[in-house]
Amino acid sequence: MKREPIVHIDEAAIAAQEKFADIVREHPDRPRTYHIVTFGCQMNSHDSETLAGTLHHMGLRQAEDRAQADLVLFNTCCIRDNAERKALGNITWLKEVKKRRPGMLIGICGCMMQQQGMAETVLKKYPFVDLAFGTGSLYRLPEYLYRLVDEKRRVIDVSREESTLAEGLRTLRDSPFKAYINIMYGCNNFCSYCIVPYVRGRERSRRADDILREAELLVEDGVKEITLLGQNVNSYGNDTGEMSFPELLRRLDATGIERLRFMTSHPKDLSEGLIEAYAGLKSLAPHLHLPIQSGSDRVLAAMNRGYTVEEYLKKARALRAARPDIGLTTDLIVAFPGETEQDFEQTLALVSEMRYDSAFTFIYSKRAGTRAAQMTGEVDKAVATERIERLIALQEGITQEVLASLKGHTMGILVEGVSTRRESQLTGKCGRNISVNFSGGDEGLVGRIVPVIITGAGSNTLRGEYAKEQHT
Ligand code: SAH
Ligand code: SF4
Ligand code: F3S
Repeated sequence: MKREPIVHIDEAAIAAQEKFADIVREHPDRPRTYHIVTFGCQMNSHDSETLAGTLHHMGLRQAEDRAQADLVLFNTCCIRDNAERKALGNITWLKEVKKRRPGMLIGICGCMMQQQGMAETVLKKYPFVDLAFGTGSLYRLPEYLYRLVDEKRRVIDVSREESTLAEGLRTLRDSPFKAYINIMYGCNNFCSYCIVPYVRGRERSRRADDILREAELLVEDGVKEITLLGQNVNSYGNDTGEMSFPELLRRLDATGIERLRFMTSHPKDLSEGLIEAYAGLKSLAPHLHLPIQSGSDRVLAAMNRGYTVEEYLKKARALRAARPDIGLTTDLIVAFPGETEQDFEQTLALVSEMRYDSAFTFIYSKRAGTRAAQMTGEVDKAVATERIERLIALQEGITQEVLASLKGHTMGILVEGVSTRRESQLTGKCGRNISVNFSGGDEGLVGRIVPVIITGAGSNTLRGEYAKEQHT
């Protein structure tokens, strides 16, 4: 496959966008409010924060109700067929709203727009859509709005700018004390079932200095928890040779951030250096999302995952030895083409052995253009449903046992707010990323990491009591 050099979007290109932003801000026909509907993973959530930041900068304000907004943006996902259907269903629903409010602008962006032939489909099938653009050109949103409001032109730009990296864009964070930082874009792994490398392009790592500066600003701004994002964060720096992922973690730890997380890690690239980081770095949260996908070596090979079950287990054991309080979570796919009952039982055995805190489980979904789409041995729908139900039931039981085993532990909780269930309680997340509802504190604790003693467990949350005098 041809590899394009990374093009850092230069200052001139960003400055050109500033000019468009200035015009839009003063334009009499500009939209006054926006609403962004986000599908998909945290990458997309973070892209939506960037879109929101850019729109705010142009003077638009967020509308709670999408039917009332002047501009509605759908940030789409195409990882599985149902993600795609959900997005298209939502867009079609808005068509009716637009009939009543003809001035409303509708835009589609995100991974779906990066698929081959999508621009033509949008042009033809969704004539009421005003704007469509891909993930590589978010930074051009001011120009798109300018063309919409000033030139009154429909804007379709899915020009696959996948080798670009834009710095210095504004973001409007969803939380004052939790933030995402994208450290790399794209994926080189080509797992045989996965569309991501086709829609998000090849791996591009950001410059370490840019990442560190962003982290320092966030710490200054009072952020307590940073989540580093990338499809495969542990190959950070492989393309640039500038810095390894564990080294980047060490530098970030030195910024004074209280809690660091990252996702997602690919098991084949999980290095000894990263395991050591878990043992040594205070800020690194005791949680790792480590997708295994299947417990059968035969299926893993067909998925092109690049590791065996035994190799995975070895790394997981080393992690638990380095950080005994670590909680592991995973992703699992059932009914991959050719998966037999025996393969599936190996997945069940793996889950029993691993005792994950929780797992995301998916039924395989065929994605056009991927290698798995050419494979034979499609698993019957009823069998797939039965398998995922067995898998979910097994994991639910394990989650219950894991949560119960945490009783009596004192954990640091990043307090997010007042519990929606009981107003006398606060709610937040522990380092293992499990929700904890606790009593004994007041709203003054929101935005801080405080010690909580765990007193009980629900089906996927913990209960606790604020441990005022203790330190974690
Ligand atoms: N980069 C991450 C995950 C990205 S997608 C990683 O490699 O772990 C999130 C999850 O969606 C994957 O881990 C996988 O379990 C699931 N997934 C991806 N493609 C899928 C498909 N075609 N059908 C079903 N599940 C899929
Ligand atoms: Fe998809 Fe595999 Fe890349 Fe994850 S590592 S995004 S599953 S190709
Ligand atoms: Fe979906 Fe794109 Fe993420 S396809 S899972 S939003 S990278």
